[in-house]
Amino acid sequence: MSDNKKSPLVKILRVGLAGLGNVGAGTFKILEQNAKLIEQRTGTRIVVTAVCARNKTKDRGIDLSKVTWVETPESLIDLPDVDVIVEVMGGEGDPALSLVRGTLQKGKAVVTANKALLAYHGMELAELSAQNNAPLFYEAAVAGGIPIIKMLREGLAANRISGLYGIMNGTCNYILTTMEKTGRDFADVLNDAQNLGYAEADPTLDVGGGDSGHKLVLLSALSYGCQPDFQNLSVEGIDRLSADDIVIAGEFGARIKLIGQAVKLDDGRILQMVSPCLVPKTSPLAHVDDALNGILMHGDFVGPSFVEGRGAGEGPTASAIVADLMDLACLRTCGAIRPVFGAEPHDLKAAPSASRDDWTGEFYMRLVVHDRPGVIAEISPVLRDHKISIESLIQRGRSEDQPVNIVITTHETTGASLRQASEKIELLPNVLAAPLVLPILKI
Ligand SMILES: NC(=O)c1ccc[n+]([C@@H]2O[C@H](COP(=O)([O-])OP(=O)(O)OC[C@H]3O[C@@H](n4cnc5c(N)ncnc54)[C@H](OP(=O)(O)O)[C@@H]3O)[C@@H](O)[C@H]2O)c1
Repeated sequence: MSDNKKSPLVKILRVGLAGLGNVGAGTFKILEQNAKLIEQRTGTRIVVTAVCARNKTKDRGIDLSKVTWVETPESLIDLPDVDVIVEVMGGEGDPALSLVRGTLQKGKAVVTANKALLAYHGMELAELSAQNNAPLFYEAAVAGGIPIIKMLREGLAANRISGLYGIMNGTCNYILTTMEKTGRDFADVLNDAQNLGYAEADPTLDVGGGDSGHKLVLLSALSYGCQPDFQNLSVEGIDRLSADDIVIAGEFGARIKLIGQAVKLDDGRILQMVSPCLVPKTSPLAHVDDALNGILMHGDFVGPSFVEGRGAGEGPTASAIVADLMDLACLRTCGAIRPVFGAEPHDLKAAPSASRDDWTGEFYMRLVVHDRPGVIAEISPVLRDHKISIESLIQRGRSEDQPVNIVITTHETTGASLRQASEKIELLPNVLAAPLVLPILKI
């Protein structure tokens, strides 16, 4: 990657790349293919000088003949010709954790795409970054190619954010969009998505909502100046949704999307929740289809702001990594670093957190029941006892042998009332499964 005819004014930023998978190889390719453009825009030549992965002989479609290969990620830290580490191995623990820790402790910069690492260890790493004046960039960790970190940390920095709603997992959005287009059920579509390589062999982190949760806590910290806190998050995935839910939601003028939301309640607490929700078709989020990501934010002066784009994949994610490297190059030329979560770590307060119980609004509830006289009469008193009033009630199908779906939408109530009522309804003799309860958003 080296070009010896460089202007004496051009600086060099030397990169140690840990991980040469989709994102690592993609980063290498952009730095090589767009080298001139990057140099023009930053006044710095950004070159990979050393790399590490597990398998040295694997063909990755990149020429590694001019870079140093090291056997362990941590060996990158002390190499004299490495100014910044790009961590794109993944995983919340070692070796990613010790590599990032060790690099920051040495006062060197880190760029990472690793949301799991930051969701669990973000606070410790933000402190290390501040103590050692070592920048930690992570644009690629949330929503891939969409510059959402920059938007919150810089572009919208003058605003108080009151609510943030995001579709942040492309796999789930692809599955939900395909379920809607084809009328097929979750398991069937997931199977296809795995065969096509859109979903991991173990899809739990994606379809269970955990991956969206990792990203949400980072956006929440940036939006509200609070500590990233993965423990105080309500997470529910898309695995219990049926094709019927999607059709019925459509009849209510809504689409079902897996939404990560971080909302500031009137009492100052932050509600962080990942859940499939009914999103009105009039909302821009309802039109984020296939594997795309979209994020809607409300700032007190800017009003609503919406961004959409590719949230994963080699190109978009590597594009975000290289943008961070370019920011770092400019930073080295002109000065101070911004704190990791927008405010100095000692100013990040543990957010007083709210839970799904505190979510207030209308709900969608699907019950699977025996189609027998008196079923509604069993359910109604439970709803009444929890002060839940019904907006509409639909029964799908009529069969004495097969279970049928009853869908109820409610007037405004709380997550706590719905949870308590659901726990009782699940025990009724004609109810066959735990009710599926989805918030209906008005965004
Ligand atoms: N893929 C995306 O679209 C995307 C989007 C946003 C964020 N991210 C994040 O980016 C990171 C990387 O994702 P990816 O898709 O590029 O993963 P990947 O394709 O699985 O690549 C992981 C790389 O890390 C290397 N590696 C793993 N464990 C290692 C170890 N113990 N020592 C040395 N090298 C090790 C692997 O080496 P070998 O190749 O030799 O096995 C591989 O090159 C993850 O944090 C992920 O969450 C990915």
